[in-house]
Amino acid sequence: MKITVSAPGKLMLFGEHTVVYGRPCIVTTVGQRMKVTVELLDKPLFQLNAPDVQIESYQKPITNLGKGDISKGVRFVEFAVKNFGIKKGGLKIITKSQFNSSFGFGSSSAATVCVIKALSELTGKKLSNKQIFDLSYKTVLDVQGKGSGFDVAAATYGGTLYFVTEGKTIKPLNLPSLPLIVGFTGIKADTVTIVNQVLEKAKKYPNIIENIYTAIQTIVALARKSLIKEDFQTVGELMNFNQGYLVALGVSSQKLDNMINLSKDAGAYGAKLSGAGVGDCMIALALPSKVKLVKNAITKAGGQIINVKTNVEGVRIEA
Ligand code: MEV
Repeated sequence: MKITVSAPGKLMLFGEHTVVYGRPCIVTTVGQRMKVTVELLDKPLFQLNAPDVQIESYQKPITNLGKGDISKGVRFVEFAVKNFGIKKGGLKIITKSQFNSSFGFGSSSAATVCVIKALSELTGKKLSNKQIFDLSYKTVLDVQGKGSGFDVAAATYGGTLYFVTEGKTIKPLNLPSLPLIVGFTGIKADTVTIVNQVLEKAKKYPNIIENIYTAIQTIVALARKSLIKEDFQTVGELMNFNQGYLVALGVSSQKLDNMINLSKDAGAYGAKLSGAGVGDCMIALALPSKVKLVKNAITKAGGQIINVKTNVEGVRIEA
């Protein structure tokens, strides 16, 4: 028995970093998907092929899941299977992503969600989206120790979500596809390292950082309303405010700043980094008449344009 499942990548629109500390964010999903095929085996083996992260013919006894030195590319899938729990036989898993794992689109979370969904179908357990979220989020925490879970929610539910830490609130926002322009810095960000750097700052300057988080929370609340009204000029202005606070948290970079500033000079309503910062992607919002100019500006600043459709379907069965 075999099944193929896919889940979308994500882009953080507002509220990165603050969402780790009990506050809300807004995340949208992208048309590029992670695809995972899971096949039940008679033998009690765990087999994995993940060519995008250079994992070929990885194999171990299913009783050894989670044990030993596990390479980064294997961890999320292996811990997802371990947490789901396989009673008998084994599994062969193949992952294939439509996007580069350096983009910060959340390939690990998307792969985790796909594995849990696939196992839920193959074993007839038919978990709800909330159960898929909970088990996938537990897996992400087991592997990396930190994270708000917004990326897991995006992969599970799809669309554009208003999300509060650990999935305390997960509310879909009914929106059309957003006119976003996405630029990749060419640099992969290490989320946990950057989250820890912000944490260090918060220890030294608790009041300042708390005030920044509160300001970002206000921005998220206004952005939610403006997005629903499709008032993209205000959404853009709020992106600029959010970016200013992310600079203050120290998570932007010269390259991101250049890509963002040149986008605005080229006529974007607003622009900001998206995700952990330092590297990964930036996003800009612009009128259709300005899109070409903004794309050229991002390219001039050394960024790579990634064409995405936003606000797409969450985890689904492909075959
Ligand atoms: C990283 O993409 C976004 C952060 O807010 C971390 C998280 O929410 O898990 C920095």
